[in-house]
Amino acid sequence: MPKDSLSITDNRTGRTYELPIQDGAIRAADLRQIKAGADDFGLLSYDPAFMNTASCRSAITYIDGDRGILRYRGYPIDQLAEHSTFLETAYLLLHGELPSAQALDDWEYGVTHHTIIHENIKKFIDGFHYDAHPMGVFVSAVAGLSTFYPEAKRIEDETSRKNQIFRLIAKTPTLAAFAYRHRVGMPYAYPDNDLSYTGNFLNMMFKATEVKYAPHPVLERAIDVLFILHADHEQNCSTSAMRGVGSSHADPYSAMAAAAAALYGPLHGGANEQVLRMLREIGSLANIPAYIQRVKQGEVKLMGFGHRIYKNYDPRAKIIKLTADQVFDVTGKNPLIDIALELERIALQDDYFVSRKLYPNVDFYSGIIYEAMRFPVDMFPVLFAIGRTPGWLAQWQEMLLDKEQKIARPRQVYTGSPVRDYVPIEKRT
Ligand code: ACO
Repeated sequence: MPKDSLSITDNRTGRTYELPIQDGAIRAADLRQIKAGADDFGLLSYDPAFMNTASCRSAITYIDGDRGILRYRGYPIDQLAEHSTFLETAYLLLHGELPSAQALDDWEYGVTHHTIIHENIKKFIDGFHYDAHPMGVFVSAVAGLSTFYPEAKRIEDETSRKNQIFRLIAKTPTLAAFAYRHRVGMPYAYPDNDLSYTGNFLNMMFKATEVKYAPHPVLERAIDVLFILHADHEQNCSTSAMRGVGSSHADPYSAMAAAAAALYGPLHGGANEQVLRMLREIGSLANIPAYIQRVKQGEVKLMGFGHRIYKNYDPRAKIIKLTADQVFDVTGKNPLIDIALELERIALQDDYFVSRKLYPNVDFYSGIIYEAMRFPVDMFPVLFAIGRTPGWLAQWQEMLLDKEQKIARPRQVYTGSPVRDYVPIEKRT
């Protein structure tokens, strides 16, 4: 009997099966040979919410949730946050290796020269109501881009894929900033190619009457670090949406609009917005114990706490805390940080959180920084989406090039009525 195998005895039939184990996994399709009778479809694995199912093999991001480890292409997240830039990290995620100096120059040039959006996309954004949530605008505008680049449908063409990757990484900050400026009624600020990726984003967001916007270097770097921390996180809800929609060979704009829609939810990338609203609701240190009590009674969730994968401190949250201090030196302290720190201190001592391994996640502190930098709360998920764009694209491309992948199509366990005859309406009770 091979050592790397699993023996299963089906007690319905008494038969025993040998399933190979590769990389710590059995193939769910191997279960299909296990049948109770000739007509039996074969055994399925039932896994709501994909708690224990690997949907792909991936070489992009490694997470060890129990030990609080996150690596992109093998590089620890703290080293990338300290030494890399967002665009270099994006290159790494997409190409698998850090770029040479020349490759990085070419890459940055390519992204920088795709930042402008078609004027009709601007008009499209104009059509939204004045109080439209910027994430709704963002999701729609990303989907809308597909109509401007019909060649994006040629997903098997490497050059076409490369062009759409440049466009998506380059244009997401423009769409995000335009969505914001429409919301506040300010004229759109066009991209400035003299600035860095994040410097230009701050320019498009906050430029007022000055002839040339000069981003504060500390804030520019802080946003860059936050984008690095958000750049990929293996098979999360939005990435699974990107892969799932992309598996039907939809163009990358349509697939990424789906990914961004998945990110919008409060249990995923929308959590950073909810954290801020929660901290404001708590309002003062004195109100924290009562709020913790409500969490323990199941009335509310402690937003920004808990993670499907991390059952230890989220390594990104540690880095974000350091970034917060640097930002507050420039902007002044966001008073909500005191509530957040105290909330964390109490939660980490409380058996409810300790026994469930609930620790602060990436969203717990990011919103406090964004707010200190004058981003409105409803822009937070959009900021997350800009940072996650290279990860979504790297995962999409990996999925397309993976010979084992096909259109994503889960099975179900049917629990409805057995077959029955149609009842005319006059005979229904
Ligand atoms: N506050 C209070 N209790 C919580 C929280 C929380 N934030 N998160 C989990 N729990 C409790 C659950 O009620 C459950 O308790 P029980 O065993 O008594 O029923 C237990 O902890 C396990 O939680 P699950 O919901 O089973 O964990 P799951 O892995 O399904 O959910 C999730 C993970 C969605 C992130 C969850 O922790 C949550 O809702 N957190 C708040 C939202 C949030 O911060 N999301 C951002 C995640 S990071 C990201 O997407 C970028």
